[in-house]
Amino acid sequence: MSELIAQINEAAAYLKSQFSEQPKVGIILGTGLGGLVGEIDIEKSIDYKDIPHFPVSTVEGHSGRMIIGRIGGVPVLAMQGRFHFYEGYKMEQVTFPARVMKVAGINTLFVSNASGGLNPTFKVGTIMVITDHINMFGTNPLIGKNLDEFGPRFPDMSEVYSKRLIKRAFEIGQKNGIELASGVYVGTTGPTFETPSEYKMFRILGGDAVGMSTVPEVIVAHHAGMEIFGISIITDSGVPGEIVEVSHEEVQKVAGAAEPLMTKVIKELVESL
Ligand code: HPA
Repeated sequence: MSELIAQINEAAAYLKSQFSEQPKVGIILGTGLGGLVGEIDIEKSIDYKDIPHFPVSTVEGHSGRMIIGRIGGVPVLAMQGRFHFYEGYKMEQVTFPARVMKVAGINTLFVSNASGGLNPTFKVGTIMVITDHINMFGTNPLIGKNLDEFGPRFPDMSEVYSKRLIKRAFEIGQKNGIELASGVYVGTTGPTFETPSEYKMFRILGGDAVGMSTVPEVIVAHHAGMEIFGISIITDSGVPGEIVEVSHEEVQKVAGAAEPLMTKVIKELVESL
């Protein structure tokens, strides 16, 4: 057994020993979106540092805890704070929690993030359901010896984001009067936000939003056969003529303001599972 697999198994075994019931959904909460935690009936909250082999999160606004609890009766495991490639973690570390979730018996993964808008119809505060992604990290988390225990060497990517869950999210939005957009998320390393020319390039390439996360975890979760739902809050505009200076603080502020609506969608979607 490889060292990595042994570590994943150990972390998963530790988490499983903490469950009173098998979680149905894993949730990765992005920048400024930790407020969904307020909707969780928390049973247990575990610092990443207490989970064997877990990396520890460093960025402001990411607290670094694994939350075991329920959303509307459905048992969930939520990550408050993720590991970003720009922090210097290896892809193996960035995607470690997704694999741990899988081994811990979770087959559905929800991911959320904040992103820059590329689609000119989007406004700051738009909530975008992710229908597909473009990997612009310049690397791939599956490079290296394939972990056959998880999935194939050459994974199909024709439907990474579950059409079933996307459809249901739109039904929930409609029912609650929450306007949802949909689009393609471009994942890039950061930590720089984009230059105007880079935003333009990502739009030409087919993106609707750009951000610094999600794609690595999603690739690994999809490789492992998990059903995935992704949602993004547009916190700033990368549309020519609308670009203004952007800061991490502003991103957090806008994400926090749009969060209750996104939370409502995620909550109902989890409850529908
Ligand atoms: N670019 C990249 N990542 C982001 C952005 C952006 O404009 N906004 C929030 N995260």
